[in-house]
Order: sequence, then structure tokens, then C-alpha cells
Amino acid sequence: MDMRTSYLGMTLSHPFIAGASPFGYHLDTIKRLEDAGCAAIVLHSLFEEQITHAQSGHIAHMDVFERGFNETLSAFPAPEDYPLGPDGYAEHVRRAKQTVAIPVIASLNGRTPESWLKFARVIEQAGADALELNMYDVPADLSVPGSAIEDRLVSVVTHVKRLLKIPVAVKLSPFFTAFGNVAEQLDAAGADGLVLFNRFYQPDIDIRTMAVTPQAELSTSADLTLRLRWAAILHGRIRSSIAITGGVATPDDGIKALLAGADVVQMVSALLRHGPSHVASMRQGLERWMAWHDMSRVDEIRGLVSLRATEDRSSFERAHYIRTLHSWIG
Ligand SMILES: Cc1cc2nc3c(=O)[nH]c(=O)nc-3n(C[C@H](O)[C@H](O)[C@H](O)COP(=O)(O)O)c2cc1C
Repeated sequence: MDMRTSYLGMTLSHPFIAGASPFGYHLDTIKRLEDAGCAAIVLHSLFEEQITHAQSGHIAHMDVFERGFNETLSAFPAPEDYPLGPDGYAEHVRRAKQTVAIPVIASLNGRTPESWLKFARVIEQAGADALELNMYDVPADLSVPGSAIEDRLVSVVTHVKRLLKIPVAVKLSPFFTAFGNVAEQLDAAGADGLVLFNRFYQPDIDIRTMAVTPQAELSTSADLTLRLRWAAILHGRIRSSIAITGGVATPDDGIKALLAGADVVQMVSALLRHGPSHVASMRQGLERWMAWHDMSRVDEIRGLVSLRATEDRSSFERAHYIRTLHSWIG
């Protein structure tokens, strides 16, 4: 069977790749992902906060995020042990490239235009095969309109694309008024891929202590449907590749992601739960399903249930919502 897929202009042996996570911290876990059969790996992000706090060793964003995952991450080294700052990260990319033959995609979460450009360049020079820009941000400033946020995203992508030769993917949040238009703007700005969607921690409130508590849980298949919808709406209508990240737990989820129109499927929670060997189960599940449907190429599947392909266009749009609500009343 021909399981090959094209992502960001690279040919991958199959569509299942490891998303940005603590698996990227160390060369031995990176190697484990390759040995288990991942087609590519996205490294954990270099966060700008990390850079500015490199001196003190304290990283606000990561710190909160990781405390919520205490149990899951107990097998991973302490945060102080990962490469802090752009030089350490660049060296890590260089070593990762020497350690594995699969493509290594670096990840960057900047805040200021200067940092995006400066660190993007450092990462490219370190030899990353591609760069994933993590555009995660919570615009809590009430005076900033959505259009300004969108302009900023597009401007970052335009500038990074002008500067770099390696492909650039953009990992996004779904929280836009008109996500399809944002996707189109980023596509026009030259993004080689869109990664749908960021799934970060949500602060909760402890009513006993009346304090904010980080609430971070690994995803389940329930997280997938939002991604399926947008991959299905975008498939075949933008030039950028589409990656789904969030809620891909089982082989069935992986098949759904491809049917909706994803070029690759990123996994993190499932790999943390079941270990890297889960990738092999994903691939086998897909192969079995393809054999059952008498298909021999992954390309035949992609987008078969996208908005473009489906006759029932309303199934991805609002009309279906009314039907769904009625289905509760019987
Ligand atoms: C422990 C942990 C660490 C993560 N670190 C990063 C990161 O450094 N950069 C990033 O872009 N996403 C990070 N993510 C988000 C994942 O890449 C992924 O988008 C998210 O977990 C949804 O995918 P999943 O449902 O397969 O877990 C992290 C997720 C987890 C659980």
C-alpha cells in the first residue's frame, strides 16, 4: 500500500506524526518516536517567555501548563533540564537532526515581531526541516479588535516567509469570528501549512481556596470534531497543507481526519497515554480499513468527506445544528 503523504512540501512515509510535546525534550525520546514509526516529529516550542526568563529559569507559560500534567509528565525530566533560550534550542535541533532520519519540525511561540524573525532564523540555521509557528495567544486587552490580531498574524507569517527558505506551518486557535477567512489570509501570506488547532490549558477556579487552578487534561476523541469540521471546510480550497492536532486517539480518529481532508495527523495525548508504539497501531488500523475498502493509496482517502466532496453541504454548516437539536426531543 502507498501510505505516503505530502506535508509542507515534504514527502512523509505515512500521515501520522508526533505533535509538539515533551517527547521533543530529549534525544532518546525523539529516537524512540522514530523507532516506533512516527513519520516526522514536531519539537516542543521555544517560547519567547522562555527566552526572556532564561536567566531566572522561570517560564510563566510553561510552568502553569506543566503543573497541570504533573502525573502524566512524571517520567519526563524537570523543566530546568530542557534547552532554555534560543542557543540551547538551536543546538537541540542540530542534535535531533543528527539523531533521526525523519523530518524534524521545530516550533516557535513568539510575542514580538523581532523575536519571531530572530528566532525563526536561528532555528532555520540549526537545520530544522520546517518551522511550526505557534500563534497561541489570549487577547485579553479589550481595546484590541479582532482585525488587529488577524493583521498581526498575517504580518508575522509574511515576514517569516520572506526570511526563511524552509517551509512554515502555522498552528492556530479556533477562536476567530471567521476562521475560514483567517485561513485564507494566512494561505495568501504564504503559510505552507495550517495546524488545526492549539489545545492549551484552561484556567479553572478552586472554590475552596478561591484561587485560579490550572486545569490541564489530555485530550479525548471528543476534541476531534471541531478539527474535522474545519479541515473539511478548508480542504481543496487553500493551497496550504492541513494538519489536525487535537483529539486523535484511535485509528478511527486518524481515518476521520484524513477523510475530512488532513494531510497529516499530529498526536500527543495518545502517545503520552499509550507510548510511542501507538503510532504503529494507528498505521495498521488505517491499512486494514483501506484494505477493507479496496483502496491502495492514502491520497485516495483524503477529503472524501470534505465540504467540497460531500453532497450534503449543510452537514458542516448551521442547518445541521437545527436537526441535531431536534434529535434530542425525538
Ligand atoms: C504536555 C504537553 C506539552 C505540550 N507542549 C507543546 C509545545 O511546546 N508547543 C505546542 O505548540 N504545543 C504543545 N502541546 C500541544 C500539543 O502539541 C497538541 O497540539 C495538543 O496536545 C492537542 O493534541 P492531542 O489531542 O494529540 O494531545 C503540548 C501538549 C501537552 C499535552
